[in-house]
Formats: sequence, C-alpha cells, structure tokens
Amino acid sequence: MRIGLMGFGTVGSGVAHILHHYREDIAKQTGGDVHIARVLVRTLERPRGTLLDDAVWTTNADDIVAHPDIDLVIEVMGGLEETRALIERALRAGKPVVTANKDVVARYGAQLCAIALEHGCDLFYEASVAGGIPIIRALAHSYASDRITRLCGIVNGTTNYMLTRMAADGASYEAVLKEAQALGYAEADPSADVCGWDAARKMAILSTLAFHAEVQLDDVATEGIDRVTQADIAYGAKLGYTVKLLGTAARVGQRVTVSVQPTMVHHAHPLASVHGVFNAVYVYSEAIGAAMYVGAGAGSLPTAASVVADVIAAVRHNRLGVSGKTWSRELPLRTLLPEEEVRGKYFYLLSVADRVGVLAQITDLFARIGVSLQSVLQQSPQLDGPVDVILITHETHRAAHAQCLEALERLDAVEHVKSVYQVLDA
Ligand SMILES: NC(=O)c1ccc[n+]([C@@H]2O[C@H](COP(=O)([O-])OP(=O)(O)OC[C@H]3O[C@@H](n4cnc5c(N)ncnc54)[C@H](OP(=O)(O)O)[C@@H]3O)[C@@H](O)[C@H]2O)c1
Repeated sequence: MRIGLMGFGTVGSGVAHILHHYREDIAKQTGGDVHIARVLVRTLERPRGTLLDDAVWTTNADDIVAHPDIDLVIEVMGGLEETRALIERALRAGKPVVTANKDVVARYGAQLCAIALEHGCDLFYEASVAGGIPIIRALAHSYASDRITRLCGIVNGTTNYMLTRMAADGASYEAVLKEAQALGYAEADPSADVCGWDAARKMAILSTLAFHAEVQLDDVATEGIDRVTQADIAYGAKLGYTVKLLGTAARVGQRVTVSVQPTMVHHAHPLASVHGVFNAVYVYSEAIGAAMYVGAGAGSLPTAASVVADVIAAVRHNRLGVSGKTWSRELPLRTLLPEEEVRGKYFYLLSVADRVGVLAQITDLFARIGVSLQSVLQQSPQLDGPVDVILITHETHRAAHAQCLEALERLDAVEHVKSVYQVLDA
C-alpha cells in the first residue's frame, strides 16, 4: 500500500514516525507493507529528518492525487477550499482518503462521503475531532446497536487550558490567552478557538454521526469564552460549578439542537474534572447509559495514531473488497428543534440595588414567568454600593429563560445582568 501524504507538519511527521516505528505490527494487521511513497509540502528547503528518502518530497499535489502509483491519500495539511478540491480529486480517482481536517469535514463531509460512496472508496476522519480519542469510530460503530440521545463535549483544548488556568490561579482572560499563545496552544489570531468556531466544527461532525442526520456548521449556536470573567468563575465555584466551553447536542424526537457555549458544569459531573488541554466527550444513550471518552485532543503522536488507525481500517477494507460500502453513506438533512423549545438550566449573575425587598421582587419575577429557582446567593453589600445576586434555575424552556432575562433587564432594582450561563448538573 503506497501512501501519498499531504502535509508534513505536526501531524504529518507523527504519521511518518508511527508508520516507520510500527511498520511490522502494521504489516501484520493489514497483510502487507504500508509505506509512504510521496509527501506534499509547501517548500522543499526545510529540513525533514531522515525517516524518508529524498525522492518522496514534492510540491506538486498532482504527484499524489492524480498519480497511479499512489494507493491511499492522507491529508494533514489543513486549509479549506483547495484542500477539499484535492480530497475530491483523490476520491474520484478511486483512492481512499484519511483526513484530520475538521474544517473540511464539518463543511463538506456529507458531500465528500457521497463522492467516496459513488467511487467505491473510503473517506475516514477519526483525527478531525478530539485528536487522539477514538470517538468517531465509537459513534459510528460501537453505538450501532444503541440510540444516542445527547452528547456533551469539551472539544477544544486551548479554551479548556485557558479556563483551567483562570480557575486555578485567578488569572485574567487576557493573561491566560497570552500564556496559551506563548506555549503554542493558541494561534496569534486566537479567534477560531476563543470564539467557539473550532468547537462548533467538531460538534457538527459529532452530532451528524450521533443522530444519523446531517448537522451543518450554521446549525450550531456558537458562543465563545471571551466574556468569561473571574467573578463568574469565583461565584460558580461557590455554588459548586466550574466553567467549561461545552458543546452540547441533543435529540428530541426527530429534531436536534446543537450548541457551543460557556457552561457552568457541576463539580460532581465527570466533565468538570477534565483539565488543561485534555478533551472529553460524554455520551448519553438509551442502552449503554452514560459513557465518557477522555484523552489528548491534539499533539503529534496522539493525532497521528488516529490517522494511522484509519489507514489500517482503509487497507483492511481494500483487502476485503468492502471499501466505501460500510461507512460512507448519504444522510438526511437534520430538522432543528426551535430555539424556544430547547430546555436547560440557567445561572444568572445580577448587580442589584442594596434595598429591602429587592430579592423578593426578583424571585417573584421568576415565579410569575413559571421558572422555579434551585439556588439563590446574595453577596455581602459593599458600602453604599450595589450587591451581586446569583440565581440558578431548575430546568425550563429557553423561551421562559428569555422572558426572565428581558424582565430582569427592565426591573428598576436590577442595575444590570452581568452574566448568564447554561448549567450542566451531574
Ligand atoms: N496539530 C494537531 O495536534 C492537530 C490535531 C488534530 C487535527 N489537526 C489537523 O491536522 C491538519 C494539519 O495540522 P498540523 O498541525 O500538522 O499543521 P502544520 O504543522 O501547520 O503542517 C502543515 C503541513 O502541510 C503543508 N502544507 C500546508 N499547506 C500546503 C499547501 N497548500 N501545499 C502543500 N503543502 C502544504 C506544510 O508544508 P511546509 O512544511 O512546507 O510548510 C506542512 O508540512 C489540520 O487540518 C489540523 O486542523 C491537527
């Protein structure tokens, strides 16, 4: 099996390492030698180590996607449109493709799977979500006999690192962002991570697999962590919660809802203990119940191990003559649950006037809308200043939550609503 590797950066070099060091084990599992025959890079000048022959390097993608000597393509170069076009060309030429590219899979996965099916080859993308955690294969195969009702995921290591540091050391958002950039966890332009877009792409991929219906990127209601403050984290901790950027996907009947938002996760929930750059996906299903998959969300060898596991699966399919028949399939488009019907619990941090009866006014407001409260915490007043009040509701519809928010903003005694979070209990 002659592999064309597109990209030789963090992941690509890890792929070469694994294919080289585990060559014999891989040959035993696939029934033949699997080796890198060509590597596409942007520049030939950069030193690339000694694992591969000088003859493999190219800057011309045709040497891989259109070359008859290449049997399988690994795409680990990143990018969107140009990369999608290359993957499509490889599939149309009947070559199986393994990719780690969440941007391409989230945006064009369904289209590319259909092309793979049409041309009798596989498109595998285990490493595109939560790098080293085998979650794609688990959702696609291990839950085949079950029905997934909900999944929650910490699927962006950069933001999880930042929130962990803010909670542990009381550091500000700005300070931990600088630190994450210095450590190479965050890009110079951190928007894709901190605005939640990267997590949204991964949630679109996971929920498509979990619910057997195509969830598109625009379906994911997305909010980032840039408004998370030290006060939110400290008050959350007092009430037993930790702030996480959480992807949540649920199926209600035949309809689905998918979001990414900062969430107060109860300390007793296993997701609250997922710290630093680690990723985790918590799956609720009718038969298995709850199960959590946790591990390295990125990194050269963890991600490369997922890529090579896909390669081994594709080679086996090839040998068995079932390529493109088992996994790739056309999916119906999802039907979204209307926003107002989504159910959840909410955390409110309010700044209110320090007057007798204010708390009663606020709790009355919630009661009139029909939202019951689980906890209320009032901070000791500062001299002549407003006081902070924290409320956590029981589960309610988003429409009722929106009504509460609007009414709170109109209430004289409320100076302003400082923060609002979704809540996840154990
Ligand atoms: N890094 C991770 O831990 C991780 C985890 C999960 C998924 N992923 C995904 O894996 C992919 C690769 O990530 P990475 O971190 O390995 O990237 P990277 O370190 O930046 O490496 C990218 C590689 O692709 C080559 N390349 C990029 N654009 C090219 C083009 N237009 N033509 C030819 N070669 C091109 C680069 O060539 P040069 O070397 O010549 O510059 C480089 O070798 C991305 O889709 C990423 O989202 C990464």
